[in-house]
Amino acid sequence: MIRRSVVLGCGSYLPAKIVTNDDLAKRLETSDEWIVKRTGIKARHIAGPEEKTSDLALAAARAALADAKTDAASIDVIIVATTTPDNTFPATAARVQAALGLTAGFAFDVQAVCSGFVYALAVADNFIRLGQANKALVIGAETFSRLLDWNDRGTCVLFGDGAGAVVLGASEGKGDKTDRGILSTHLHSDGRHYDLLYADGGPGSNGKTGTVKMEGQEVFRHAVTRLAEVVDEALAANDLKPEEIDWLVPHQANQRIIEGTAKKLNMPPERVVLTIANHANTSAASIPLALAEAAKDGRLKRGQIVLLDAMGGGFTWGAAVIRW
Ligand code: ACO
Repeated sequence: MIRRSVVLGCGSYLPAKIVTNDDLAKRLETSDEWIVKRTGIKARHIAGPEEKTSDLALAAARAALADAKTDAASIDVIIVATTTPDNTFPATAARVQAALGLTAGFAFDVQAVCSGFVYALAVADNFIRLGQANKALVIGAETFSRLLDWNDRGTCVLFGDGAGAVVLGASEGKGDKTDRGILSTHLHSDGRHYDLLYADGGPGSNGKTGTVKMEGQEVFRHAVTRLAEVVDEALAANDLKPEEIDWLVPHQANQRIIEGTAKKLNMPPERVVLTIANHANTSAASIPLALAEAAKDGRLKRGQIVLLDAMGGGFTWGAAVIRW
């Protein structure tokens, strides 16, 4: 028997304010047609001036705990994946821990930009597998709108704000692909590509917050290749064939990147969870937002195989295979 991390529940939170492509076109030289055709994005949620990343994270966490019917006091570790923490320090996860009224256990942030949720899930899974935690709260939360140059049409149309969370609990498995829970996680990074996608500032290192700088076509090219590789790696590690995957729940950066991965897996669009049209790219929040949506509307069913994949600045990329 081996220890596994089973998803006990999911939750999400989206700020109330919705900005459509037409709204952006009123103040930028862009159009709904251009944005939809290149990315699949139609609208994004934007946090209010008083809303911080920890507020979004807390709302998603509370929803996930309720869905999991889990008392916050039983959580051993809280991990927040974010690129937009409330402050340089302390960790946004510690703010969430305090807001949940917890003083036991431990909380910290993980920074892997758009791959952040897969990284945080892998870290939490390892704590659980090693017996150092029995329950984990894994959150992806971003106020990415704060990192954007709203005059750069090449980047500002792509992103949105939001948060998603999952509660993981320890369970016993046989150690093969029939087990419920996280079957494997696969993480990679390659820091050589810094200049293709980065924020030119903070936190703390050079005295300014900075905004997102991106070579879109190059990022696109790398994303398609790296995601195809890591998806192959994840399938091989579990002796799974593409047709055994019930759901692809990808990071939502660009619909064309997602379609590329789905095509490689020979997966029909009905088995791909897409939220990009209404959420845009919410960085570390996009996968848990998509999981929460598909769990809530009944698409994800117990026993099904769910494949997560993500790629982001760093470059970082990764995948996870979960039996729901
Ligand atoms: N509206 C209208 N025109 C625009 C806009 C816009 N919002 N943005 C750029 N353009 C113009 C450019 O100025 C350029 O004009 P020019 O030909 O006169 O010079 C033209 O459109 C083409 O620009 P490209 O950058 O070549 O357009 P491309 O087809 O590559 O699409 C995009 C750009 C959507 C950013 C695409 O490259 C992409 O999605 N890349 C992936 C990047 C990504 O997803 N990053 C997210 C973070 S990383 C991740 O999560 C994977």
